[in-house]
Amino acid sequence: MPPISRPRGTEDLLPDQFFAMRRVSEAGLGVAASFGYQQLDTPIFEASELFVRGVGDSTDVVRREMYTFADRSGRSLTLRPENTAPVLRAFGESSLRQLSPPVRLSYAGPMFRYDRPGKGRYRQFHQFGVEAIGDPEPELDAEVIAVAWDWLQELGLGGISLQLNSIGDAACRPAYREALLEHFAPHLATLPELDQERLRRNPLRILDSKEEGSEQLLASAPRTSDYLCQPCREAFERVQLALHAYAIPFELNPRLVRGLDYYVRTTFEVWHEDLMGAQNALFGGGRYDGLSELLGYPPAPGVGFAAGLERVVMLAPPGPPPARPQLVVCSAQPVAVASAIDASQRLRRDGLSVLCDVGGRSLKGKMRAAERSGAEAVAILGEEEVRERRLTLRRLRSGEQMAVRLEQVYVQVREWEQDTQFGEGPA
Ligand code: HAM
Repeated sequence: MPPISRPRGTEDLLPDQFFAMRRVSEAGLGVAASFGYQQLDTPIFEASELFVRGVGDSTDVVRREMYTFADRSGRSLTLRPENTAPVLRAFGESSLRQLSPPVRLSYAGPMFRYDRPGKGRYRQFHQFGVEAIGDPEPELDAEVIAVAWDWLQELGLGGISLQLNSIGDAACRPAYREALLEHFAPHLATLPELDQERLRRNPLRILDSKEEGSEQLLASAPRTSDYLCQPCREAFERVQLALHAYAIPFELNPRLVRGLDYYVRTTFEVWHEDLMGAQNALFGGGRYDGLSELLGYPPAPGVGFAAGLERVVMLAPPGPPPARPQLVVCSAQPVAVASAIDASQRLRRDGLSVLCDVGGRSLKGKMRAAERSGAEAVAILGEEEVRERRLTLRRLRSGEQMAVRLEQVYVQVREWEQDTQFGEGPA
């Protein structure tokens, strides 16, 4: 029988990767907390309607990429492809609505999209994101960008550029859409099939087309910035002023449109030089005033971003390796097994991380495994040690060895560890 392997487009987070992912997401949640954002979690699956209405039924995410299934009572459920609609739903149906706005929320967790798997593109991936809900002020747009920016700085991630745009609102976007359609209309038949479809379904999406054959027409296409109404223009100026105040550099990109339909006004993405183009952003976000109403709740303007954690982990400088056990406790003979287990438990309660090795293999084999474990020291318990109520404690990097009582082990191991840390111990 062939072995069963993981589903295409998914990854096992083995301990080193899990540790790296957790470090990166905790750094993000930490930065968000320093801006007053509090973490929440929403269900992994939601009513499919939430995404059809919220994200938009003309988007690639809803049309092609959702993991949708009927549960046993026939309800249509979808594994969340993104978390903004779920967070707004949670906000709308909870006591969060009673808090004074903006309500600042953060999250980290898995998302699911039936995308074509590739470098940095998975079917199950993880996002860290924030949403600031209930406040239309443009300075808040800059604040959520600052959370993301500070996080990437803290991780030491270089080679990034912030792409910024305003795609207008219900007042000015229709005129822009018309202008786009007019620009492309005489050449419709010459456009690649995919772009013709974009124009039919959601004309703004043509702006981030990568199709050969559309480039020239795109270069001369009308720009979002030329069609903004006065309130959108003023809001966009305030976002930029606030970004200057945060000392965050940005590039105005009038072709930046996002793949989800709920955005109004500010949209942004952070690109990395090693990722190609807008499809491969490190993170993206924007303002979504009006989404709450689409979901059937009272108005709750908001702004947020989400970052792909796999991409950030891939591009950030590596962090420290996961912690190793501090001590290995070995039994040298079967008679010492119970004492070794007991000693390990006591030392764990003292605060050490202890790997207990009471298997049947030889002491030599156990010592070799202890060396490979990366522990600072090994404590050996044999017949003699049990009789004399002591342990043989050996520092692995130097071979230094001493007979100690159990109560002395914690202090000795910590002392050796500190020597190692500050480079004073013998190599
Ligand atoms: P999004 O641009 O669809 O926005 O996704 C945000 C980030 O998630 C992307 O920039 C990318 O890093 C990562 N990502 C998306 N799809 C994949 C994939 N298949 N594999 C790996 N990583 C992926 C949103 O999801 C919005 N909810 C962001 C937002 C929050 N807007 C306002 N608030």
